[in-house]
Amino acid sequence: MDAKKILVIMGSPRKGNTYRACEELRGMLEKELPVAFEYLWLKDANLQPCKGCLLCFTQGEEKCPGRGDDASRIEQKMLDADGVVFATPVYGFSVTGQMKIFIDRLSYIFHRPRFFDKKALLLTTAGVMGNEDVLKYLDTVARIWGFEVAGKAGMITAAPVPQYRIDKNRQALAGAAREFSAALKRGLQKSPGMMDVFIFRGQRGAFSQLADVSPADYAYWKEKGWFDRRTKYFVDVPVNPLWHAIGTVVEWFSARDIKRDREHGPGETS
Ligand SMILES: Cc1cc2nc3c(=O)[nH]c(=O)nc-3n(C[C@H](O)[C@H](O)[C@H](O)COP(=O)(O)O)c2cc1C
Repeated sequence: MDAKKILVIMGSPRKGNTYRACEELRGMLEKELPVAFEYLWLKDANLQPCKGCLLCFTQGEEKCPGRGDDASRIEQKMLDADGVVFATPVYGFSVTGQMKIFIDRLSYIFHRPRFFDKKALLLTTAGVMGNEDVLKYLDTVARIWGFEVAGKAGMITAAPVPQYRIDKNRQALAGAAREFSAALKRGLQKSPGMMDVFIFRGQRGAFSQLADVSPADYAYWKEKGWFDRRTKYFVDVPVNPLWHAIGTVVEWFSARDIKRDREHGPGETS
C-alpha cells in the first residue's frame, strides 16, 4: 500500500502539548498503515485575517482582498492529502487565533465544499476544560467542508498530569487513531448522516434562490450538478431514504424562507 498523505493543520503557536500529541498519533498510525506526515504550522503561514467583505462568498475566493497570501496553497495541500488532522490547543474555550484566522479565511468552502474523499481527525488539548466544545466546533467545520470526520481526541494537559489522565489521554488518542486509519484504509466515502443530508438540502434550497446575490455559489453548485433534482447528495453515495424524504421538506423551507425575506425587501437600519 502506498503511504497515505497526512497533513496536520497545526493551530498551536509552539511545539508543545499539541505537537507532542500529534507525534504520538503519528506513532500509532504508523503501526496501522504507511503514512507520510506533514505539518502545516499556521503560526508560520501568511494568512490575511478576514476583512468581512463577503466577496469570497458572492464573487469567488479569487476576489478576496487577502489574495496572494497562503490560503490557496494550504487549500491545495489539503486537496493533495488523504487525511487532515486539525490540531489545536483550547484557548479561552475556543480554537487558537491562528486556527480561527485560517477557518475564516477559507470560509468560502462552507458554501462550496470540496474535500469529499478526505478523512479528518480532530485533536485538541486543554489544560483543564473546553475540549468537547472545541471538538464539536471543529466537527461542524470539517463536515461542512466535505470531510468525513473519522476520529476525535481531546486531551487534558495541566501539569502535573496524573497517571490516570495520561492513560485516558492515550486511550482517547488510540481510539481516534484506530478510526482514522480504518477510514484511510477504506478510502471510499461512507453514506452521509442525517445532518449531512439536511445541510446539503438546506444549502440547495438557499443557493438555488441566490443566483443574482451570490453568483459564485450559484455557479459552483450548478457546475457540480447539485441543483439537479436527481442529485441526492454532494457525491454519489447511498442516501438513507428517510433522510432524503425529510430533506425535501428541509429544502422547501429553506428556499421559502429566502424567497420570503427577499419579497419583504430590506428593512430600515439605524
Ligand atoms: C491564551 C491561553 C488560553 C487558554 N485557555 C484555556 C481554556 O480555555 N481551557 C483550558 O482548559 N486550557 C486553556 N489553556 C491551556 C492550554 O489549552 C493547554 O496548556 C494546551 O495543552 C496548550 O497546548 P500547546 O502546548 O500545544 O500550546 C489556555 C492557554 C493559553 C496560553
